[in-house]
Amino acid sequence: MKKMHKLLSAMLSAAVCAGMLAGCSGSSSGSAAGSQTASGSAGGADYTVGLIQYMEHTSLDEIRTALEQRLQSQAEAAGITVDVQVQNAQGDPTNISNICNKFVGEGVDLIVAIATPAAAGAAGVTEDIPIVFSAVTDPVTDLQLDSLDAPGGNVTGTSDSIPVEKIFEVAAELTPEAKNFGLLYCTSEPSSAGVIADAKAYLDANGGSYTEATVTNTSEVQQAAQTLVEKCDAIFIPIDNTVATAMSVVAEVANEAKIPVYVSADSMVKDGGLASAGVNYTNLGEKTADMVLEVLQGADPATMPVQTMTDVNVVVNEETAAAIGVDVSAYVN
Ligand code: TRP
Repeated sequence: MKKMHKLLSAMLSAAVCAGMLAGCSGSSSGSAAGSQTASGSAGGADYTVGLIQYMEHTSLDEIRTALEQRLQSQAEAAGITVDVQVQNAQGDPTNISNICNKFVGEGVDLIVAIATPAAAGAAGVTEDIPIVFSAVTDPVTDLQLDSLDAPGGNVTGTSDSIPVEKIFEVAAELTPEAKNFGLLYCTSEPSSAGVIADAKAYLDANGGSYTEATVTNTSEVQQAAQTLVEKCDAIFIPIDNTVATAMSVVAEVANEAKIPVYVSADSMVKDGGLASAGVNYTNLGEKTADMVLEVLQGADPATMPVQTMTDVNVVVNEETAAAIGVDVSAYVN
């Protein structure tokens, strides 16, 4: 199977190169109803890209904006035009599969997928069309890559994996008395599983303890947060799309109870969490765009390493800190 992946993508790269030489005219099939096109030359673009975003929340929106801007500016610099069809799956598995099948049916040159469920959906419908993912926390496990360095098939991209212990080190500094952490996450989100396993291992090894409250969708988040603030000293949230969507609700419940919420993405701090250590998602989106252009111009995803972010930034919310009486001045600059 893997051999075939490699062969197919090698053939595909050759086809893309041939397309470039021929000017690839007529490769754009126009945009479907409800999608936006971000190219000034729809219908005559050199390349057509289908972009699927898993759902709307602060971080995924930030990634998409940065990715689209960078893609257009770099395409212009390279003298090529890229027609991007943007679709949002609104967190719905049926939408994911419909959108991905539509992209395949239209014969797009490449699929960009933001967040794990979107990337897994795209990888499930094609082994031929190159897929560049953005912000997939654990791509080797969840997208069945051979390795980060050599993915082996038609799929590569950027990962937002982070050293979880960094977040607990910040917690130990800001609220050293907090020992029992409430773990709040969605059971059906693959990206949360690995981070939660790391969190448990860290707490077990460092004299902490934990209580779990899991949800299956956004509407359960408020009740889960309420349960945790009654039992725990602090709350920890992994890179979980479902909880991120309801982050302001979590912040309201926790601030009322004066419980610190430690999160794994800056967007959840923006939306009311106390502190996070995580990647810069604008940079991540831009890096993804650069990979998209490389693949469009003939690079082979099978041998293109997944990019991870080496800079982990601590971000704090001063308003939340003031509301619950925690001194975060060490992290304010
Ligand atoms: N990493 C998540 C995934 O693999 C997507 C994601 C990006 C995310 N930024 C986030 C989730 C911020 C929650 C909060 O699906």
